[in-house]
Amino acid sequence: MAAPEIVIAAPRLEAAVEAIVAQGGSEAREAALVAGNLVAANLAGHDSHGVGMIPRYVKALLEGGLAVNQHPQVVLDAGTMLRLDGRAGYGQVIGLEAMALGIERARKHGSCVVALGNSHHLGRIGHWAEQCLAAGLVSLHFVNVISRPIVAPWGGRDARFGTNPVCIGIPRPNGEHFVLDFATSRIAQGKTRVAHNQGKRLEPGIVIDDKGDPSTDPRYSVIPPFGAIMPFGEHKGSGLALACELLGGALAGGGTQHLPDQGKMRVMNGMLSILIDPEALGTAQFLAAQAEAFIAWEKASPPAAGAEGVLIAGDPERARRRERAAKGLAVDATTWEEILAAGEALKLARAEVLKLAGL
Ligand SMILES: NC(=O)c1ccc[n+]([C@@H]2O[C@H](COP(=O)([O-])OP(=O)(O)OC[C@H]3O[C@@H](n4cnc5c(N)ncnc54)[C@H](O)[C@@H]3O)[C@@H](O)[C@H]2O)c1
Repeated sequence: MAAPEIVIAAPRLEAAVEAIVAQGGSEAREAALVAGNLVAANLAGHDSHGVGMIPRYVKALLEGGLAVNQHPQVVLDAGTMLRLDGRAGYGQVIGLEAMALGIERARKHGSCVVALGNSHHLGRIGHWAEQCLAAGLVSLHFVNVISRPIVAPWGGRDARFGTNPVCIGIPRPNGEHFVLDFATSRIAQGKTRVAHNQGKRLEPGIVIDDKGDPSTDPRYSVIPPFGAIMPFGEHKGSGLALACELLGGALAGGGTQHLPDQGKMRVMNGMLSILIDPEALGTAQFLAAQAEAFIAWEKASPPAAGAEGVLIAGDPERARRRERAAKGLAVDATTWEEILAAGEALKLARAEVLKLAGL
């Protein structure tokens, strides 16, 4: 049976999470950025990358795998190419500052390749595309995950990849930008955690058990004995996951995931980002007009049976934001208990967190 959930207004939840992060030794700006980023993921509908990550971050912090108050170190600066080391710092700060550096270069030179290695978890990658979109830039992001392998390659029977996300952001004049942002696994690993915490089963075809056989139990990606999540799109998704290892891990300089489970709680990300200024390419107006014409044409497709019609990537997140900002954020009881326990592990009384959350 699914555990009951609590509903908290976004600013309250943000204040509670900010206090836990600050208790871990982060400066006020860092605590605010981490909490703001996680709550933004919840607001966008991606609970897998929201405040439910806090217990894992706190474990990573306590084991020494996540470093507080870090900033990206510039390893190489070649104008339109930047190579950065995230120094195992909070991805919410490292990602923001890495993109800010890339945006500045792309505005000056027309494009920039940002190669980022050794960042701790970068959260919802669409957040970084949205930062580029706010500056009018197109961006492409290829990300690898260095943690316990969790995704099986197509044709394989056990986990070899992380959930390696790919993200593409393309601006639209009306602000309803195209933000395609997904894990190359059938579902994000955090979504199996959410299902497990809620006591729910998964659709068939998403996970395999520890023997490599099909299962609908999310536990096989959450607690031992581990199985694996399948890649999306069969050989195509598996190929894209490998591209993320080679681009986000190898080319970007942080390393690939090719070791068995090391039992560490930290989640490291490597990210290769390509930022393009359509103004500098001379196609900004053309892109804007063509995008509107094509999207109108695409959306005119008659709705499939049982569907409400065609959406573009970015639409579901916009709808969730409107809905959740008004109604508040639902956190399942197991996740909330884990968050309170994470605060306690840092010697922050649960009464304090409950007070900040308004509960
Ligand atoms: N940092 C990491 O290590 C890491 C790893 C894996 C995933 N993630 C993040 O997890 C999040 C969730 O990934 P996911 O694979 O579960 O995402 P998902 O399966 O929910 O897909 C999300 C994407 O599909 C689009 N979309 C959804 N429904 C649509 C529809 N009906 N029509 C058109 N487009 C639609 C969304 O706008 C979005 O771009 C992502 O934000 C990703 O960046 C991060």
